[in-house]
Amino acid sequence: MKPTTSNEIRKAFLDFFAEHQHEIVASSPLPNLDNPTLLFTNAGMNQFVDVFLGNEKRSYTRAATAQKVMRVQGKHNDLENVGPSPRHHTFFEMLGNFSFGDYFKREAIDFAWQFVTGVLGLEPERLWATIYLDDDESFVLWQRYLPAEKILRFNEKDNFWAMGDTGPCGPNSEMFYYVGDMATCDPSRLNADDDEEFLEFWNLVFMQFDRQTDGTLVPLPKPSVDTGMGLERMVRILQHAHSTYETDLFTPALDEVQELLGDSDAERAEKFVGYRVIADHGRAATF
Ligand code: ALA
Repeated sequence: MKPTTSNEIRKAFLDFFAEHQHEIVASSPLPNLDNPTLLFTNAGMNQFVDVFLGNEKRSYTRAATAQKVMRVQGKHNDLENVGPSPRHHTFFEMLGNFSFGDYFKREAIDFAWQFVTGVLGLEPERLWATIYLDDDESFVLWQRYLPAEKILRFNEKDNFWAMGDTGPCGPNSEMFYYVGDMATCDPSRLNADDDEEFLEFWNLVFMQFDRQTDGTLVPLPKPSVDTGMGLERMVRILQHAHSTYETDLFTPALDEVQELLGDSDAERAEKFVGYRVIADHGRAATF
């Protein structure tokens, strides 16, 4: 049976990577105690920064996590999107697999494809990939799974990932799932600010550089991999919901808010922004 509940999807992810020799590492705490420039953990890779930089050795070179993250400050800040947006959260869970000088682009793409099509059963015809402008290697690797016209190139804003202004960074490749009508699918909409039909759900970062304060990109000791899949977004896709809020991760909280307010279903629908903000912020504050 394909996983469908949020708990099943999280477990399927960790099980898949454990089967592929990844160490399952616990989420680090949400308050980021290691880095004075970052109040809250904002990506799965935070707890591995020194491993990517080669300053710390672990007993494993492959890891996977379900990381608690919060994006309310600094370079990655989604606070103002929460409410109107059907897919943004302050707090969310990021499912990630990591390679510390072990595998690189080929295996990262293979794992991602096998997991979403094989384990989760997503339809290949609805999948798209993006790559960094000059990343011809990823273009070739993706063509083992997708036709060339479904592999789109974007610049630094969309396809070069960094945790902050300095530190580990690299070109990335994102996976998108198209939820719209296949007959009217318009690829020029992918990554458009107002698009809600191409859902970005997984970011594969090919960690290659350590950015210095003056902007210089110094190569990392070994090319590495850092990925992040939004659990909430994948749950939305698999539960065929119109937003991440209409999934088993949020409906219990929204139902509770409705009960406390004594609202009718029509009132709840009308006040959807406020409902989402309460559910999102309540969840974030709890963690
Ligand atoms: N670190 C990457 C991200 O947060 C995977 O998108």
